[in-house]
Amino acid sequence: MITIENQIITVEETTSTNDLAKHYAKQGASEGLVITAKRQTQGRGRRGRIWHSQTGGLYFSILLRPKLPPTETAKITLLAGIAVVETLREHYGLAAELKWPNDVLINGKKIAGILTEGSISSSGNYIIVGIGINTNQPAPTLPEPIQPTAGSLVEFINDPLDNQVLLQQFLARFNSHYYPFVQGTHLKLLDLVRKYTSLLGQEVLVVTDQATYRAQALDIADNGALIVEKPDGTKHKLLAADVTVRRQS
Ligand code: BTN
Repeated sequence: MITIENQIITVEETTSTNDLAKHYAKQGASEGLVITAKRQTQGRGRRGRIWHSQTGGLYFSILLRPKLPPTETAKITLLAGIAVVETLREHYGLAAELKWPNDVLINGKKIAGILTEGSISSSGNYIIVGIGINTNQPAPTLPEPIQPTAGSLVEFINDPLDNQVLLQQFLARFNSHYYPFVQGTHLKLLDLVRKYTSLLGQEVLVVTDQATYRAQALDIADNGALIVEKPDGTKHKLLAADVTVRRQS
């Protein structure tokens, strides 16, 4: 197995670590570069959402240059989610679960989110995996609109979390999955997604750019898509890039 030392650049503040990582990517930085910031002024999530990034949380982005077809690169978000789940389970004993495709929950509350962005350009292809984890922000200090659905690790752990230790633990986990994956020797990725994902077998609300509907989440397809069945019996494969899936309230 390849082991790689991640070069880590830490800044006090930036707009978004994804943007800073892109800046370095365009300058030709190597795979494995990690950018982390103590706070972000324009942290963002999927589908144009804001990622609230006050001091206390862990915000970072990893630069990757996988030589894979686009259908495979879509699985990297799932791989990062697995690494977050395993880190929280193994090092902190937390009942973390994956909410396909890009969230990590504990007790139904969103603790972490993943935003994967990519580019094909003259300076080479790259993928940025941006991860935000609510660690030391007490839940009442999270913005009011997200309080019903968001949580923070500090609610589950007595001592304050060391974000840099958590980052190192995550990177060890991530690397242990990523390098076998890009070499084609990781045979259990989808099994791990199935094992940790909290949606399978449940009634869910599917929201796409085109439609909103209720369905049952059935399985994860070979390409990482979520297979759902509508009440009329039709089955659909939902790609991570296109949809948001929510539990029904
Ligand atoms: C989501 O839940 O929709 C994804 C949230 C991703 C947030 C992280 S924080 C580090 C990186 N920089 C950003 O601006 N976003 C990601």
